[in-house]
Amino acid sequence: MDTVLSGIRSTGNLHLGNYFGAVKNFIKMQDENNCYFFIADYHSLTTYPTPENLHNSVKSVLAEYLATGLDPEKSAIYVQSDVREITELYLLLNMNAYVGELERTTSFKDKVRTQPNNVNAGLLTYPVLMAADILIHKANKVPVGKDQEQNLEMARKFAKRFNHMYKVDYFPEPQPYNFGENLVKVPGLDGSGKMGKTAGNGIYLVDDDKAIRKKVMRAVTDSGPTEMNSPISEPIQNLFTLMELVSTPDTLNFFKEKYATCEIRYGDLKKQLAEDIINFVAPIRKNILEIQEDTEYLRKVAKMGAEKAIESASKTIKEVREIIGFREF
Ligand code: TRP
Repeated sequence: MDTVLSGIRSTGNLHLGNYFGAVKNFIKMQDENNCYFFIADYHSLTTYPTPENLHNSVKSVLAEYLATGLDPEKSAIYVQSDVREITELYLLLNMNAYVGELERTTSFKDKVRTQPNNVNAGLLTYPVLMAADILIHKANKVPVGKDQEQNLEMARKFAKRFNHMYKVDYFPEPQPYNFGENLVKVPGLDGSGKMGKTAGNGIYLVDDDKAIRKKVMRAVTDSGPTEMNSPISEPIQNLFTLMELVSTPDTLNFFKEKYATCEIRYGDLKKQLAEDIINFVAPIRKNILEIQEDTEYLRKVAKMGAEKAIESASKTIKEVREIIGFREF
């Protein structure tokens, strides 16, 4: 059985793109693997050193993941800062990470550009902390998006280097977790590209019915088909793609047929799509809001997750200390 680790940023709400692109797969992933899901709150300080309400953002991410189906009985779901062992591994790995290679990573170079007034050492060593997150559980699989591939490659490098330096075969080299054909790209509502937090083209799982209707009705379209069976433009294809995710096949076929025969009215298509998105999102939203209110439950989950994570992390730290040569008197 593989050990899978997934890190989640502690900032921002989940949208439909996150749901269909990743979270939906996590639900299955946790049945087939030994999974660790954690909320990266230390990492968030590299960009937001004095957060408004660190605890609240951690709480809402936790509630969203639980509401969408992460199961605290099946997986370890925990907050990074609850597992102090990670920081010790981070310190030890820092001794084997070179400033030059850290300076060359694209995410560091990006940050130097985007936050020139706060190029802190935490930013430089971001990939080391990420490697510590992964290696602390000796995880061999990590689901990552394109933007995190280089960080995962660094984690492999640090694992290999550790093994080589101390002449052990201790850390596995973490590979990207592959969802295979399950991978869906969820488009945004702005006509092109995928749904993303920064693009502001998304539907959040906490959006209410009114907000969803408003967003869908404003979605970009085109001037309509002019001949029978004409090819579908990107903005319209995007609406069909969303429909494929939330509507029945009959509904989708109905509108595709209308398109092919040039009888489609985009207003009708959007109205239907909005209602189907609402039907999909509303129960999840209700769930999120309920869980968010249930501090007792969240506390229990975080505690249980931390216990599981600490058990695995302290075993690793003990072994790593042995390997390097720290000994008790
Ligand atoms: N850097 C990741 C992101 O921004 C979050 C993260 C932190 C992570 N530690 C990790 C992801 C370890 C995977 C494994 O999305």
